[in-house]
Amino acid sequence: MATASTPSGGGPGRDAPPGGLLRTKPVEQSIADTEEPEHALRKSLSALDLVVFGVGVVIGTGIFVLTGTAARDYAGPAVALSFAAAGIVCALAALCYAEFASTVPVAGSAYTFSYASIGELPAWIIGWDLVLELALGAAVVAVGWSGYVQSLLASAGVTLPVSIAGGGSDGSWGFNLLAALLVLLLTAVLLAGMKLSARVTSLIVAVKVTVVLLVIVAGAFFIKGANYSPFIPPTRHTPGASGGATPLVQALFGFTPSTFGVMGIFSAAAVVFFAYIGFDIVATAAEETRNPQRDLPRGIIGSLIICTVLYMLVSVVVTGMQHYTRLSTDAPLADAFKSVGQPAYANLISIGAVAGLTSVTMILLLGQSRVFFAMSRDGLLPRTFADVHPRFGTPWKSTLLLGVVVAAVAGVIPLRELSELVNIGTLFAFVIVSIGVVVLRRTRPDLPRAFRTPAVPLIPILSVLACIWLMINLPVATWWRFGIWMAVGMLVYFGYGRSHSRLGRTPGSAEPVEGTGSRT
Ligand code: ALA
Repeated sequence: MATASTPSGGGPGRDAPPGGLLRTKPVEQSIADTEEPEHALRKSLSALDLVVFGVGVVIGTGIFVLTGTAARDYAGPAVALSFAAAGIVCALAALCYAEFASTVPVAGSAYTFSYASIGELPAWIIGWDLVLELALGAAVVAVGWSGYVQSLLASAGVTLPVSIAGGGSDGSWGFNLLAALLVLLLTAVLLAGMKLSARVTSLIVAVKVTVVLLVIVAGAFFIKGANYSPFIPPTRHTPGASGGATPLVQALFGFTPSTFGVMGIFSAAAVVFFAYIGFDIVATAAEETRNPQRDLPRGIIGSLIICTVLYMLVSVVVTGMQHYTRLSTDAPLADAFKSVGQPAYANLISIGAVAGLTSVTMILLLGQSRVFFAMSRDGLLPRTFADVHPRFGTPWKSTLLLGVVVAAVAGVIPLRELSELVNIGTLFAFVIVSIGVVVLRRTRPDLPRAFRTPAVPLIPILSVLACIWLMINLPVATWWRFGIWMAVGMLVYFGYGRSHSRLGRTPGSAEPVEGTGSRT
């Protein structure tokens, strides 16, 4: 853990050796960095903008697509409880995120928070992990978006050739042109500046929330009580599922692989957790927020509450409209309306999904470029990526580089199944943030905190345990993939970041700057 130091005046960085893996970047230095004119982002966002960003990124593939898989294959109608379980895990993490975000209001989210509290190596690990979450998440959602657009095109009688449609139903390969174009277009919007992005997002979010409300209100009239029986389907053993497909918890404790039952609710929770990814990205916009101490906690917790309520209602309605065994795994919301003879609603929902997935992809791209920006500014990645565009005030090099890479990945690889990899990465980030809150309380109790996590250390401990519980409900193969990604990250850190770190190269800069513990 971080080197302990005196509470007042002495930051953890003071005692940390410049070459140490646990050297920490003082909070004051993080804040001072954001004020260097050539590396400063424009501050234009309000609390409402942040809630819109949060809802804009959170409601997406998770509710529009994964609800079907989770209910049909893991939990039945009890998938509503899975959404509740995943929501509780996120709420615990959000309470920790909010304290960190309001104490360390600089770009980079969990990466920056960890750098300020635990140390450089853990910060690198989390930054690398966030790139996985955000880049892969953006690619996954862009591919999902392309699927919805193609289904709307099909209703209009237009079918794309397999070679540019992302492949055929027979498993043949094709470039996913629509997904790649979406990512490139959104990258251009982000390059033009935050304010424009926020405006575009608000419009899309309004359409998306309207469609979700439509599902709940219109769908409620088509619920049949019989579809809720059994609400928690009995446990079904699946001895055929072995090796990589088995949840780690079952492999660890030697259970016979199974689905449904109470354990199925948690397996489904680990899957639908994807639906919540994004509220943490609100924290990555800290540096562009007018009053981060007040507005960040509001933005994070506000968007999380809205989404949890909507998800539970949608899943209750959809599993009430159609028996869980018959739910679609591609477009379950639209399909439920088709199953009750309402195809017009189905098309409306598809249009909403297209709009919704657009905003999700955009905000994931935004968050990702900001983490990359923060890591470059610290010298852990080449510093040129921290240059801010003189006119637009955006980190244009990191945005452009990652936009092109994500467009290529979205075009080439069918990534939906990799959403579990995104989940494990995000849960891991939550674990580090929760630990970081406790560490920063001990090492820097003097810092002003606009928002304080209640019941420390109980809430952070519960948050860590809850995240680990969901993580071990993910398949063994996901753990392997995650391990490989992190191993590559270690090679990059020890091959480049460690020797180029700004903190390591200028030991004097590790000294905290007295009297600059807060910003207005
Ligand atoms: N939460 C986002 C979604 O469900 C990533 O698409």
